[in-house]
Amino acid sequence: MDSITITRPDDWHLHVRDGEQMHAVLPHSAKQFARAIIMPNLKPPVVTTDTALAYRARILAALPATLQSGFEPLMTLYLTDNTPPAEVIRAKASGVVHGVKLYPAGATTNSDAGVTDITKCYATLDAMEQNDLPLLVHGEVTDPDVDVFDKEKAFIDRILAPLTQRFPNLRIVFEHVTTRDAVAFVKQTSNAIAATITAHHLLLNRNAIFQGGIRPHYFCLPILKRETHRQALLEAATSGNPKFFLGTDSAPHSQANKENACGCAGIFTAHAAIELYATAFEQAGALEKLEAFASFHGADFYQLPRNKDVITLKKDRWIVPEYFEFAGEKLIPLYANTGLTWRLT
Ligand code: NCD
Ligand code: ZN
Repeated sequence: MDSITITRPDDWHLHVRDGEQMHAVLPHSAKQFARAIIMPNLKPPVVTTDTALAYRARILAALPATLQSGFEPLMTLYLTDNTPPAEVIRAKASGVVHGVKLYPAGATTNSDAGVTDITKCYATLDAMEQNDLPLLVHGEVTDPDVDVFDKEKAFIDRILAPLTQRFPNLRIVFEHVTTRDAVAFVKQTSNAIAATITAHHLLLNRNAIFQGGIRPHYFCLPILKRETHRQALLEAATSGNPKFFLGTDSAPHSQANKENACGCAGIFTAHAAIELYATAFEQAGALEKLEAFASFHGADFYQLPRNKDVITLKKDRWIVPEYFEFAGEKLIPLYANTGLTWRLT
């Protein structure tokens, strides 16, 4: 196949940051995706509907004129120990907040204000279940005694499985799943739970982090896993199962913050997101499954209409730039200086 045309996709997990950084990264997503679930882990985090509305206005204002009416940011709130149930009502009523994000405190970038103990959130989760506002989860425990490669599995056993029992009708997106265990859990649990999968977890295993030296641009959270887990993710993504859909987790950090004695977690993939997914699906011999994964399953789960227009990818080799401008700094994209075979037309 030399060309593939699919319904315009959406990105169900995206970091666009704020200010000048946002201006730098937003066009990459807006050129290919119709909508994106916008992560609330700013400093300070987006904890109220009012701040989500203001953030949404900043995103819309930052869109290049040509893309102004073509990209819709879908906002989220950042769950804290103290998010009041009333905030859930306000969020739902706003019509622009589509989920509440659970970051276990300390699990990842800007998660200090996250949840220290899930039992503190029961009243709020109850309101979310009642008002049908989805919970989006970063599924890793923060217990320092748990091995970094096992944090997702421990989260399922200790937090997520009990949560689905306690709130059976709460819709949950298990975001950026990285393990065979997570795939199995999502498959076997009710239709209230779904999962996003990133392009980098479909394309890479943990060896990438240590290829000839330490490679900070392959460091993200949840961290890349063994090949057997990558295989499970590929199988899930290409299976046609509507519980699995696209979420890039494109997470830009400056080169200086990545190439650092304590480098930030996050891989920037927005420059070529749909091309990267196409590459993974093609390698799995399942390019015909890309459209449903990228353009249908997420919209259906979030109960939003599917997009009407289309995008076309052509077989056309191009070299990913060495870097992008990033508010006076450099942003190193995934596969910098490397050839990709698919190109968005
Ligand atoms: C994300 C970030 O940089 O905001 N980093 C990452 O490695 N994915 C945070 C997150 O989604 O965990
Ligand atoms: Zn993320």
